[in-house]
Amino acid sequence: MRVYLNGEYLEQARAAVSVDDRGFLFGDGVYEVTRARNGRLFEAGRHLRRLERGLEALGIAPPPGFEPGGGALLEIADRLLRDNGLMNGDALVYLEITRGVAERTHHFPPAGTPPTVFLRTNRLAAPDDVRERGATVITTPDLRWERCDLKTVQLLPNVLAKQQAVTAGAFEAVFVRAGIVTEGASTNVFVVIDGAIHTHPATQRILPGITREIVLELAAERGLRVVEQAVPLEELRGASELFLTSTSTEVMPVARLDGGAVGSGRPGPVARQLHAALRERLERDTTRAPAV
Ligand code: PDD
Repeated sequence: MRVYLNGEYLEQARAAVSVDDRGFLFGDGVYEVTRARNGRLFEAGRHLRRLERGLEALGIAPPPGFEPGGGALLEIADRLLRDNGLMNGDALVYLEITRGVAERTHHFPPAGTPPTVFLRTNRLAAPDDVRERGATVITTPDLRWERCDLKTVQLLPNVLAKQQAVTAGAFEAVFVRAGIVTEGASTNVFVVIDGAIHTHPATQRILPGITREIVLELAAERGLRVVEQAVPLEELRGASELFLTSTSTEVMPVARLDGGAVGSGRPGPVARQLHAALRERLERDTTRAPAV
């Protein structure tokens, strides 16, 4: 696999980052995971806007080509997808930008320190087998900081929560803060109660997921009732449906929560409908017009 690092395209085995990189030392950086299908990025504009907000919040100057309106993501992703034989089918593009390499001080390095820019692509095997039967999830305390809206590479609470899920044989860990469901370790959470779709509002308590945003639009277009309101954990146990969204899992129905069945214990109709709608959007936006 070939990757991109600071202006160079090189074999992954040859790509190395300095031990003084602030991403390595402090988790001082942001990342994005964008979906590609048939060599085209899905909703690249939304990912770039979230990246811009993150860089701005962290006070990292956008690297060349990553300024608003810059074409670097599309250009680099296109070359990597081609070089890595990923022009057909589903793939992910990982992008990470850190505050760069500098002597270790907690405060920012001197102005002009170039950020580190890394991109890689890989094939995505969508978890359709799990989707068919519905995922198992556990709940866990949300131990994260107050800026969960920033997609930083500082993911330790998410890593620990996900490992808890894996150890329990579950697909995802759902965070609960002060009795309120926030989101999953790497997904947003939706709950169907009395026919209405509830999800945590896009505050600093959750990552404003791109898939979440699209699913909310698709639901509204279909006349489904949507409430951006946090759900207490106890109401979750009485929900008819629960589902997760993310770039890699799409819409994932949940069948079991903390050992008990959710609703019928099978994937529910709202999740199925929204997954089909999302796939349709993905296919529409990433299908090349036939050559004439
Ligand atoms: N995770 N919430 C968290 C905490 C996440 O890490 C993610 C994404 C999401 C969903 O966001 P989106 O729909 O934009 O993918 C919600 C990515 C995919 C990851 O860490 O690999």
